[in-house]
Amino acid sequence: MNVHAGISVEDRKLIVKLPLTTPTGKIRVKRREVSSNYALPIATRKEPFRENDYVEWQISYATDNPPNGSGVEDVRLNSQVGFELTKLLCEGIKCGILLNDDIQEIKSFINEVKQDDTLEENEKILREDSRSEVKGGFKKFVEKAPLFIKNNIEKGYFVEIILMHKQRAVGLQAMVYLCIYIVKLKDENGESLIGRAARANEFGILEITSENKEIIVDVVKAFAVASWQHRNDIESILNKVVSKCRK
Ligand code: ADE
Repeated sequence: MNVHAGISVEDRKLIVKLPLTTPTGKIRVKRREVSSNYALPIATRKEPFRENDYVEWQISYATDNPPNGSGVEDVRLNSQVGFELTKLLCEGIKCGILLNDDIQEIKSFINEVKQDDTLEENEKILREDSRSEVKGGFKKFVEKAPLFIKNNIEKGYFVEIILMHKQRAVGLQAMVYLCIYIVKLKDENGESLIGRAARANEFGILEITSENKEIIVDVVKAFAVASWQHRNDIESILNKVVSKCRK
């Protein structure tokens, strides 16, 4: 079963519930290895959470089949229903976290993204000759794949755009990940998660208010630069959200 994020509004705050025990899902907890600077999923039911662990969320904006209550039925993209990021935008406007100025800033950002700015179409993965050989006469090459990170340490999150080769077609594919440090999440009793392992099927809770609404803005910007298709999708979603999700 694919466990998904829960997004709701309480007290004019966005409440985002993120699953903590699904290491193979679209939402998983990772820990960065000091030796390689590479982050790997951790077994959160056994391993106590540390300050530097984070939840990596492969967030999307539309889907064919939203789980019950998680879709934005009024905001559609072709045959798909608005979802996750679209829900954050819609509820964020309705509860007064995202103001007119924020929407204008996002719109003018998207407008400034031109065809030679989008990463999928303009970046490359390279193979460099490392000028060494292993047994059997195999020459070593090292693949270099570009990766883009926007860090907001103060607010406890970062957004990554990762480029990889498409699995069933020619060209690159950009993936957007919203990563939130575990220190910024609370458990269901409002307590920190640090220092203990996750309980069965536990969720961590993130509050989005006007204090950290850049989270939403930065994910929109990531999609706007990730690819020309995402840029156009997100522009269309934003226009629909503005007309359908009024305060
Ligand atoms: N399609 C759905 N979610 C996506 C994401 N996070 N990044 C890129 N493409 C996606």
